[in-house]
Amino acid sequence: METDKERIIIFDTTLRDGEQAPGCSMTLEEKVRVARQLECLNVDVIEAGFPITSPGDFESVRQISKAVTEPIVAGLARCVEADIDRAGEALADAKKGRIHVFLATSRIHREHKLKKDRGQIIKLATEGVRRARDYQTDVEFSPEDASRTEPDFLREVVEAAIDAGATTVNIPDTVGYAVPFQFAELIEMLKSEVSNIDRAIISVHCHDDLGMALANSLAAVKAGARQVECTINGLGERAGNCSLEEVVMALATRKDFFGVETGVHTRQIMNTSRLVTTVTGIQVPPNKAIVGRNAFAHEAGIHQDGVLKKKDTYEIMRPEDIGLEHGHIVLGKHSGRHAFTTRLEEMGIHLDQERLEHAFQEFKRLADKKKEIYDEDVEALAREETEDVPDIFKLVNFHTTSGISVTPTATVCVEVNGEEVKTDAAIGDGPVDAVYRAIDRITGIRCELRDYSIRAITGGKDAMGQVALEIAANGVIERGRAARTDIIEASAVAYLSAVNRVVKRTRNGQAQKGERPGV
Ligand code: KIV
Ligand code: ZN
Repeated sequence: METDKERIIIFDTTLRDGEQAPGCSMTLEEKVRVARQLECLNVDVIEAGFPITSPGDFESVRQISKAVTEPIVAGLARCVEADIDRAGEALADAKKGRIHVFLATSRIHREHKLKKDRGQIIKLATEGVRRARDYQTDVEFSPEDASRTEPDFLREVVEAAIDAGATTVNIPDTVGYAVPFQFAELIEMLKSEVSNIDRAIISVHCHDDLGMALANSLAAVKAGARQVECTINGLGERAGNCSLEEVVMALATRKDFFGVETGVHTRQIMNTSRLVTTVTGIQVPPNKAIVGRNAFAHEAGIHQDGVLKKKDTYEIMRPEDIGLEHGHIVLGKHSGRHAFTTRLEEMGIHLDQERLEHAFQEFKRLADKKKEIYDEDVEALAREETEDVPDIFKLVNFHTTSGISVTPTATVCVEVNGEEVKTDAAIGDGPVDAVYRAIDRITGIRCELRDYSIRAITGGKDAMGQVALEIAANGVIERGRAARTDIIEASAVAYLSAVNRVVKRTRNGQAQKGERPGV
């Protein structure tokens, strides 16, 4: 639909800044899957990684460049030749590529981190942008810690970067220090005082250390910024980045005030949020705006009464606008293959024939145990199918005993390489620990369990429990996930999935992710 509203560019950095959050790393396959979903969401730019930091980051930028066609794919680089060359190389196949170069400009970073004076910073920024332009015509420059940079120097750096060829100038509130009124003034100052600002888009990138990332981003839009950098579920360094779903829905719901629009297909928000939750294992708090479980739940009697009489009394957005069919029972015991496939398609999940058939069989198995099957259940089943984990070790059966004054024991049967079935038993601190010890004896791999969490996917006593865990073994760290109505089975399957990933990675000789320099 054509409108006369100005367009805000949505730059998603879930796969770069989001992935920097502790415990948030994703595999290559997961990143490509998220990138495809971001394309369905219709974001304008996907920052796919920081190629110099590790072979994994390089590969993800390269693969995402090939996997998506509509959004611009961005790769991050410091103003360092090797970084820029590596980003240029990773983006070579992108239909629309962007190199995003950054350099700290605040006094504290200049003096203590970089040990460079103002003149040297201007020179490095200029050279960095010019080198990036050798690879891509679309170049973004970020003066890191811009919100704590002296305004006169920020103006000078931004002007120099645009002169050198930057087409977007991004103003990061790197440490989440800005407050909306002041941040808006900073954007207004750049807009009116940088002589060549009409040759570049002003972008903002806000962190949430003081809980003001969204407010700062919106204030910047009101002041003239035309690109917002954000992440799904607000993931990102420390307290995270401005959350995509919040900024997009704020601009849509209050278009009367902001007078701008984004191209985001808001009905894909829930699918995207769930996918990111699944692949990162980082749960969304129930009260999180837009995508939290309670965001559209009306608990107070007065509110329920009002909503039943007229939704607008207490609802400023419709749940369906973000793709939420809340509390909707999608399928049951009698649902057929067609209903199941249609629902998956509606949820944006695409499986090949073999995986679809397997997911359908699992769904039938679940329907025998659970009367009402919700979107979240279907999603959990289907997501397991999309994980590219080889079935080197596959759970066949298990038996556990536990109780007060009883030593927990487990007997576990595992199929190895689709050939033999091995059985072993162990005791442990609890039934799950006993299962894990028995599995270690079967696989011969000693694993350290670094993280383990379990949550009910939906309400009700028959809800599936989803286990997400992280193990360290053979010098690598891997994650596993599984959802079952039996939580010990879910724990065993999740563990074996992580072990299978370890074996796959060790066989491929892949090293662990490297440290990220300088961000
Ligand atoms: O927070 C920050 O400053 C960044 C830059 C690399 C844009 O993430
Ligand atoms: Zn950041």
